[in-house]
Amino acid sequence: MPRNRGAGDGARSGRAAWVLHPDIRTGDAPVGGGARGPARQLEEAVALARAVAPEIGAAEILPIRRARPATLFGPGQLAAVAERLDAAARRPDVIVVNAALTAVQHRNLERTLKVKALDRTALILEIFGARARTREGRLQVELAALSYQRSRLVRSWTHLERQRGGLGFVGGPGESQLEVDRRRIDERIVRLKRALEAVRRTRGMHRAARRRVPYPVVALVGYTNAGKSTLFNRLTGAGVAAEDRLFATLDPTMRALALESGRVAILSDTVGFVSDLPTELVAAFRATLEEAIGADLILHVRDAAHPDSGAQRADVQKVLRDLGVAAEPGERVVEVCNKIDALEPESRAAAERRAAGSEAQVAVSALEGAGLDALRRCIDRRLGGGRAVGEFALRADDGAALAWLYRRGQVLDRADDGESVHVRVALAPADLARFESRFPAPGGPRSRPSALR
Ligand code: GTP
Repeated sequence: MPRNRGAGDGARSGRAAWVLHPDIRTGDAPVGGGARGPARQLEEAVALARAVAPEIGAAEILPIRRARPATLFGPGQLAAVAERLDAAARRPDVIVVNAALTAVQHRNLERTLKVKALDRTALILEIFGARARTREGRLQVELAALSYQRSRLVRSWTHLERQRGGLGFVGGPGESQLEVDRRRIDERIVRLKRALEAVRRTRGMHRAARRRVPYPVVALVGYTNAGKSTLFNRLTGAGVAAEDRLFATLDPTMRALALESGRVAILSDTVGFVSDLPTELVAAFRATLEEAIGADLILHVRDAAHPDSGAQRADVQKVLRDLGVAAEPGERVVEVCNKIDALEPESRAAAERRAAGSEAQVAVSALEGAGLDALRRCIDRRLGGGRAVGEFALRADDGAALAWLYRRGQVLDRADDGESVHVRVALAPADLARFESRFPAPGGPRSRPSALR
């Protein structure tokens, strides 16, 4: 399983890789990759490959007019790659092909080039596997890996066709190794799915328990390497590893975030996006984004200095939309333009001007700290959502009124003095009025609404 020999192991063992990016074109239009050019796609593939093999011996774009069903690349291209491999000072341990290969193409490429090949799906699986931390994350990755493996079990692939027969307890006589392997994988898939269901049920319970705690949730989403972990650490002061490696975070990580108004929120970090995520991995990836979907506020962290910043933004917005989140900055999303320290002075000034005139954008440098106070204030305001703060003195035995406030508002402060309970609560103005009419105070209004900054 990729889980057992993932990025960490690869990086430690000093593996070397070659990266090939097939630039598949029909007519003039590139296939896949959206607005990105092949050079950028190759760059991302190299960054991904570094997570499994620290040494990248070669990285090249191979233009393809017509994808060959048997080998993807044309025979001339393959022969040239094979020749370069033979001439190389160090033969790579693995060749990364930045495309989804069919099982047949995969087998033929390995045979022709005489080197292990990883396609894009397998590569991302390796990385997911090495970084999965929660039980659900691990199960999801293993499930995706097994389905991938099953799709690779093709007739006459290496030794798999040999007859086993006679062992009795693993497949009846005459059952081919291929069928045994397939059946084993299927059984494991069924078990995994059951385990996942169980994990999801308990996660639902955890979430319900958290909902009872009156803390709003703020989720960080964004492209891999956009700076989410760095920002997360800066905002919460937590020591979560921020690495210049992809997927430092596969599973959501949560920390308390204290804001100026006294409000406390939970900040949740999520796994990074990659361009053109293989379809088989979408479920595993989305499971890790679930926390974000339920969040009160989503911070879309962008690497403003990345040449593909625009295309990356479109990708993130699309996935969020698919998940039912209105992704344009506004309602629940704040766009955080990060890495402004890496911009040219004019671009930086423009980003800061744009942010100053908008409630939906903030320009920051998570690395240097610029703009972070503005971001905190923005989160505070957005969580306030135009709410008013009411101060109430309730009789200690007025449990119904207190419960109502806890249910409808966010209790910011509470002091009990035996006879009465003093609370400061952020509430929607309509709820404030509702509370007054539902639980009228004997001596006139007892709330002192003040708009939150
Ligand atoms: P994944 O975990 O892969 O999703 O990445 P991430 O979005 O959590 O990014 P991370 O915080 O690990 O940062 C990626 C790289 O960008 C690191 O090398 C950071 O030091 C760098 N970085 C983060 N914020 C800034 C910033 O404001 N300015 C600059 N110049 N670099 C930054």
